[in-house]
Amino acid sequence: MSASENGPENRGWKPGKRDAFFLAFVAAVVIFLTMSGERTTKPTPNDATHQQAAALKTIAACMACHSADGIHPQPKRHTKTQQCFQCHIEPEMSVGAK
Ligand code: HEC
Ligand code: HEC
Repeated sequence: MSASENGPENRGWKPGKRDAFFLAFVAAVVIFLTMSGERTTKPTPNDATHQQAAALKTIAACMACHSADGIHPQPKRHTKTQQCFQCHIEPEMSVGAK
């Protein structure tokens, strides 16, 4: 170990070339992970029922059928989050009232 490595001139941290490279690398990994995040959750079916329900833009429209006692309940331990289309892609053509 050379004296300069422990010397007073090394106490403060100044970003050097290697730090910049490291930060760029971290940023690249984060961007890659974000961009490649494909949605694997089942999309909302593209049928008339779902297009009409989506057009109502209320969670109640969905939960009429997908609550625990509906005709097609969400799985047990399904998220209580209300924004269905954050995970289940919205039907392509929502018809009816906006
Ligand atoms: C009138 C009843 C009804 C309403 C209202 C309804 N659904 Fe459905 N949903 C069903 C039925 C029945 C199925 C299963 C069979 C099918 O694919 O149509 C289903 C299936 C689904 C699936 C699973 C698809 C798959 O591939 O298994 C998702 C996701 C879904 N609905 C989301 C929604 C969302 C979001 C809303 C509100 C915008 C909604 N549903 C409103 C009856 C309904
Ligand atoms: C945070 C993400 C997320 C949100 C928000 C969300 N879900 Fe789901 N949902 C999932 C996952 C994950 C599954 C498991 C099956 C899958 O891969 O689709 C699922 C499954 C379902 C299923 C059963 C699909 C089947 O297998 O037939 C229905 C129905 C459903 N969700 C309806 C809804 C409704 C209605 C809403 C809005 C009130 C909603 N979900 C909001 C993530 C979500």
